[in-house]
Parts: sequence; structure tokens; C-alpha cells
Amino acid sequence: MNHLVTGQVLLFDDDPFTVPPTEAARVLSDGAVAIDGDGRIAGVGERGRLETEFPGAARSAMGDALILPGFVDAHMHYPQTGIVASWGKRLIDWLNTYTFPAEMQLADPAHAADLAKRTLDLALAHGTTTLASFCTIHPQSVDAFFAAAAERSMAVVAGKTCMDRNAPPGLLDTAQTAYDESKTLLAHWHGTGRARYAITPRFSPTSTPDQLSALGALWSEHPDCLMQTHLSEQLDEIAWVRDLFPDARDYLDTYESHGLLGGNGLYGHAIHLEPRERDRLREVGAALVHCPTSNTFIGSGVFDMGQAKAEGLRVGLATDTGGGSSFSMLRTMAAAYEIAQLAGTALHPAQLLWLATEGSARALKMEAEIGTLEMGSAADLVALDLASTPAIAQRVAQAEDPWEAIFPTIMMGDDRAVAGVWVAGRRSAGSC
Ligand code: GUN
Ligand code: ZN
Repeated sequence: MNHLVTGQVLLFDDDPFTVPPTEAARVLSDGAVAIDGDGRIAGVGERGRLETEFPGAARSAMGDALILPGFVDAHMHYPQTGIVASWGKRLIDWLNTYTFPAEMQLADPAHAADLAKRTLDLALAHGTTTLASFCTIHPQSVDAFFAAAAERSMAVVAGKTCMDRNAPPGLLDTAQTAYDESKTLLAHWHGTGRARYAITPRFSPTSTPDQLSALGALWSEHPDCLMQTHLSEQLDEIAWVRDLFPDARDYLDTYESHGLLGGNGLYGHAIHLEPRERDRLREVGAALVHCPTSNTFIGSGVFDMGQAKAEGLRVGLATDTGGGSSFSMLRTMAAAYEIAQLAGTALHPAQLLWLATEGSARALKMEAEIGTLEMGSAADLVALDLASTPAIAQRVAQAEDPWEAIFPTIMMGDDRAVAGVWVAGRRSAGSC
């Protein structure tokens, strides 16, 4: 049975970082997205044309809501959902005080299952249909996340977070167990349904060179898997990496020299990069993942989106919860806008929305399945009410073009703006 979702529709014909944003993107004021019986996008365009093309299709009439691909959160930590918004620490202190005790609790599979479900339901309520999550060292934390995502038909990326030093004993594995357990998990989950596996060394300070090498070897055996980690988030962290790896040319080299640099690599934060690091990341086509609410919340620094995109680096956008302070990709876009302003670039609303959808999907190498409204893509959609609060509505009443009507929701919107969410074509959550 076909199904039409009608409303305003946001379409990208091009990358708004390479083509002027208002040429790269269009808003159809009376549009529709057609979904086929397999939950895939069967057509997109003017409502009248699609009504003719799909006679008798069921309807979800979303009024003036803006229909776009579901948001893609390219880096987050579901084990940290319960400690989001924990006060007063910078990265290393924050990890030791809040994060590691919280992650220890995922030794209990029931707790892992509860957190996984809670996180995915929060994500959906905020219009996010795909997440790339770190898990904990416990293999059952990976099973819990993928199982909860499968129950919701969500396309997700996840991996066992590997650490064999500089963390409490209950959170340590070894080079061998990190390799063995990651290998077993990826054999089970990678490509099962909508699941994708990411080999996941947490970051260089919590892995010995042996563990990094073991995970590099695993990646070379499974190059179609993603690899996710953290890179150059805070200056104290970078100084620590220099002490721990005295022979490394820079932070990136601690990954590169152990086989952990590649085009399927996702490098979270990547704020304080050296020229060599930028060059190498671009040469191999790796993805940086910008986590703006986290960067302000933990006090990490100002990511220069203008420079990164001008240099041709691939960039995704992410919440990084619980280091990030929100589950909302709207709040995340707002923070990205503000941080880019501090670095001298005013990101256009089309660029922000592209980063939160297709840009992040490209970072995850999943743009053939999610993040766009292309025919054949999964019908993972969100509908945004562009007048969800009185403060937003009064600003939108004065808007003179579609971008002026959209930008207040990017800057001031939250889950109240989420009017509907579809995952693989099925209505899943939303405030209506
Ligand atoms: N670096 C290493 N681990 C983490 C983490 O859990 N959160 C953030 N923001 N940075 C990290
Ligand atoms: Zn992170």
C-alpha cells in the first residue's frame, strides 16, 4: 500500500557547501513524499502530481510542516544518557567523575537494554532516526543497542568501546579481548537488518599501542566496517597523548601508525588539528564529526566549520550526548551556527539542515539508504512544525522567504517542533 506524506518538502539538488545554498536546496510549499509498501521513498515532488501518480494512497496530511529526512546523529554515547547535563567538569575529569561510573553499570544487561530503549525513544521524539553510538566495553551493551534499534526498525551504527588502560578496572579489556569481542560482534551485527558495526577504540589515551594495533588489524580484515573514535577534543587531552605516545608525529598519528586512519573512519570533535592532520584526513577521505553542544558544554574549543569545508574535509554533525547537552539535532544545529559565527562563518539554514541529514549520512557512508529523499532511500522522515512555540511563531509571521521561516525553528526549536517521525515508512513518534 502506498502512502503520501504531504506538507512543505525540503529538497537538496546539490551539496550546499559546494553550490550556493539557495541554489542547492529548494522548499516545495505544497509538496509530498510517497512511500511504498516496503517503507522506501517512491517519489517526491508537488502534491498534485504525486496524488495523480499514486491514486488511492493513504495520507498523512502534515499541513504546513516541513518534511525532510530524519536527522542523523553521527556520534553519541547511549550509555551516557543518564548523566547528560552533569555539572562542572572538563573532559578528563568529566570522564572519571561521571562517565566511567555510569558506563560500569552496563555490565548489567537489563540496565543496558533499558538505556538503549530510552535513548532511541528520546532520539525519535527529537526527530532523529539514525544514531552512531559508542557502547561500553561490555559486549552485551552492543547487543542491547542493536536489538532495541531493530525493534524500532532503525538504521544505527554502534560498536564495543575498547579500553585497556587509564580507566577503572571494571571498564578495561585487553588488546586480545578487544579484538576477539569486536570481531564476534561485527560478525553477528554488521549488515544484519539495518545495523552497521563500527570498530570503536574510545580514544588513544585509553588504549595501549597493542590494542590500537589489534583494532587496526581487525579493521584491515573488515574494511567495509566503520571505525569511530575521538580526536583532538581538548588541549589537556592532546598534551596527555603527547606524553603517552612520545614517538607519534601528532594525535592523528597515534591512529594512523596503528592502522586506524581511513576513509571509513569517523573522528569525533577534531577541533585542534595540526596542518599535517588536516591534510591526511582529507587525503584519505575520513570524516570529522562536529559535536557543538558538547564543545561548549565541556569547554573544548571552537571548531572551524568554514575552514574545514573550504579545505574539502568531510564533516558530520552530532550531539555527543552525554558530553553534549541535548538529544535534539535542532539544538545541535543552533550550537553549530553559534560556534561557526565565533569562527567567522554564518552557516546558512540549508547548510545546517544538510549537515544534520545528508552530511551526517555521508559521514557514516550511508547516504544510499538514509539522509536524503532520493527514490529508493528508506522512508526515514521527520515533519517539523515551523511555529511550535509562541516565540517562534511570532518571528515566522514576519518571514519573507522559506529560509526565514525555517531558521527560527533551527535556532529556537526543540522536540515540540517534531510533528511526526517515520522510520522505514511507519509513523513512529511525534507530538501530534
Ligand atoms: N573522549 C573520550 N571519551 C569521550 C567521551 O565519552 N565523550 C567525549 N565528549 N569525549 C571523549
Ligand atoms: Zn564522544
